[in-house]
Amino acid sequence: MAVLVTGGAGYIGSHTVAELMAAGESIVIVDNLEKGHLRAIPNGCKFYKIDLHNAEELKNVFSENDIDTVIHFAAYSLVGESVLNPLKYYDNNVGCTRILLECMKEADVKRIVFSSTAATYGEPESCPILEKSPTIPANPYGETKLAIEKMLKWCEAAYGLKHISLRYFNAAGAHTSMDLGEDHNPETHLIPIILKSALEKGKPLFINGDDYPTPDGTCVRDYVHVCDLAQAHVKALYALRAGADSGVFNLGNGNGFSVSQVLDVAREVTGMPLPSKVGPRRAGDPATLVASGERAKTILGWAPQYQSLTDMVESAWKFMLKHPSGYES
Ligand code: UFG
Repeated sequence: MAVLVTGGAGYIGSHTVAELMAAGESIVIVDNLEKGHLRAIPNGCKFYKIDLHNAEELKNVFSENDIDTVIHFAAYSLVGESVLNPLKYYDNNVGCTRILLECMKEADVKRIVFSSTAATYGEPESCPILEKSPTIPANPYGETKLAIEKMLKWCEAAYGLKHISLRYFNAAGAHTSMDLGEDHNPETHLIPIILKSALEKGKPLFINGDDYPTPDGTCVRDYVHVCDLAQAHVKALYALRAGADSGVFNLGNGNGFSVSQVLDVAREVTGMPLPSKVGPRRAGDPATLVASGERAKTILGWAPQYQSLTDMVESAWKFMLKHPSGYES
């Protein structure tokens, strides 16, 4: 019996594979390596370099392996790009998930853990955000993830598919002992951009607006360690195997940090002054996104181990010092 992980060579996917392996699971990874990294795949996993558009090759993966559950990460996830090219996102995120679900249906695989996002909420009415809060995505990325959540619901009604969607807030940090970390190209995320500027000594961080209705005017986000996110997938897998109801869960720490606060923590961790300049707002950025993670704690028994932003930034910094140009270095 094996778990199929799509996008298992990516940032959150590879950390989840590491946790699944530590839990003794047998893993099959499908990744087209467009965003993922071969070096992020641990020894002992079966790996197929397949693009999910390729239904025939994907069907073979199901026929060659005894898959009991799918954990589905493979997707595009850049908010700005999704605004400029929504059809690319509908095709890859929604279209490929439809193909995956067809293959699962044909192979009679009835459990899926889905990598969703806080971007499904859009600009929240209030924080902390509950799972029952309105979902009004502010960009096509969040919209495609919400469409998939709904597709899963209808597949349950029609075919009995059990599903857990995990809405991540802001993933951060690295698994230093496994030598895993964040390596995106292009990089758009705050913490690796700040650390990259530390590495390149002197390149200022551009703060995307300081006129938001937050205590210091910069955007507030809920940072959650990638190893905690990975653990949540293990819990979701176990819950589905134990017959839990399908559902949606926020994954966050419930603590908000502003862009300026993150920068201060990075100054402390790197010991560098890290200059910054204030630029205009970035389109589609909500002022504050902070999760209520209570539902995941109560129902999945998920308890994040890393509450400290300093620990998250420190682990990311260690990975970056070891791999200044990402996995290729
Ligand atoms: N930011 C800057 N300067 C930069 C980069 C980012 O000021 O150079 C700001 C952003 O404008 C934002 C904050 O830092 O206010 C965090 O930005 P990130 O790009 O790191 O993260 P986002 O909150 O935009 O998005 C992330 C994921 C999404 C997910 C969302 C949920 O990338 O997929 O968290 O909270 F939907």
